[in-house]
Amino acid sequence: MKDTEKLEKIVSLAKRRGFIFPGSEIYGGLSGIYDYGPMGVELRHNIKQYFWDKFIAEREDVYGMSAAILMPARVWEASGHTELFTDPLVECKICHERARADQPEAIAEHENTHKKEKEKMGWSLPSVFNLLVETKLGASEATASQVYLRGEITQGVHVNFKNVLDSMHPKLPFGIGQIGKAFRNEITPRDFLFRQREFEQMELQYYIKPDEKTGTETFEYWKNFAFNWYLGLGFKKESLRLRQHAPDERAHYAKDAWDIEYNTPFGGWLEAWGIHHRGDWDLKRHSEYSKEDLSYFDEETKERYIPWDIECSGGVDRAVLFVLLEAYSEDELGGESRIFLKLNPKIAPIKVAVFPLLKNKPDLVAKAKEIYTTLKKKIPQMMFDDNGNIGKRYRRQDEIGTPWCVTIDFDTLGEKPELKDTVTVRDRDTGKQERKNISELSEYFKAML
Ligand code: GAP
Repeated sequence: MKDTEKLEKIVSLAKRRGFIFPGSEIYGGLSGIYDYGPMGVELRHNIKQYFWDKFIAEREDVYGMSAAILMPARVWEASGHTELFTDPLVECKICHERARADQPEAIAEHENTHKKEKEKMGWSLPSVFNLLVETKLGASEATASQVYLRGEITQGVHVNFKNVLDSMHPKLPFGIGQIGKAFRNEITPRDFLFRQREFEQMELQYYIKPDEKTGTETFEYWKNFAFNWYLGLGFKKESLRLRQHAPDERAHYAKDAWDIEYNTPFGGWLEAWGIHHRGDWDLKRHSEYSKEDLSYFDEETKERYIPWDIECSGGVDRAVLFVLLEAYSEDELGGESRIFLKLNPKIAPIKVAVFPLLKNKPDLVAKAKEIYTTLKKKIPQMMFDDNGNIGKRYRRQDEIGTPWCVTIDFDTLGEKPELKDTVTVRDRDTGKQERKNISELSEYFKAML
């Protein structure tokens, strides 16, 4: 049986604390669509920044790019998605709800809702359902052309392979990375951010010389690189694993595929990230369909060939969900129970919160504002809070995962002369407070981050 209690707590915290809201909620929402609030957008930004730094900016062999979401239908014919990007769909004979035939748990869950009409329960024969989201572009019905919202961000890179070659003149091996939205008409969007219809992906396409040994070594390299990157988000080693796809599980483009999986409380081990050996599938098909030559000329060997592609593909929203599940903690502090997010400081939406001990003491407020403004120049993700009593403020910051809270009290102003110009710094995980000089704060937090 699924343990959804923790997931429900995350959904509730995400809404209560401004991380994630149901999409267009005041109009009843849309299934599988979510909006990110002020805290969620910072968390997501930090995860994406960490991807961009490690997979793209800090490397000399990878370029970044950003392709459009809308692409002509022909792209998806070439990539094989029009024909093969499908799920088996069945329809309930009682209520006509649709489900994926390959998800026994969802099927059983639905059958359970018809317990009283057991004898009528049954499903239609499976049909093939394409996941691409279609729309039309053009001013009139007659001339509008059918386009797709991209089902994976990958194709935006492959269709620009020649543009990158011609403009940047890279030598193999090299990669192209990007982050962006993808859309899938999932039959059963479920489990909060886990299976959505609009979501974000972060990907690297790494092009290599077509050669079995190079392929195997490069695949191993990126498999380990991606796994270590994922661990770096703040996961315990035992929460993640690598699993190879069985041949009948692989996507149509993959010669080999491995997933990084997270051990979720609601569904056991589930895919967080995929590493795919795509071979020459994409570039070859786009060469055929577009009639553009997407081969590479190897100056060293004087050979011309279609490179192979080793792909790293991660879901941004799935990373957000798994990070929240991993960080969610409950304990007792000072005799009171509390909820806190044990987020890695690097991705926490707010790094430091600054409070005056009391709201109605202008000297305290002015000093706290001064410290906040100075620190914010060095650490942009900061918050000033003077709302409610200090205990409540700590709880609020704990729930959004702020690693440190700085409190300005009367001693800061010199009530005890030996403590003048010092503040308390509270640690989120232990609740312990230390006194620090204002002048050392910026260096202290920078070192901790
Ligand atoms: N370009 C390869 C590709 O798209 P995929 O395994 O279909 O491969 C890659 O997707 C990642 O995108 C997954 O590991 C997952 O993190 C994320 N993802 C896929 N479908 C998703 C959905 N419906 N909702 C949220 N994230 C999704």
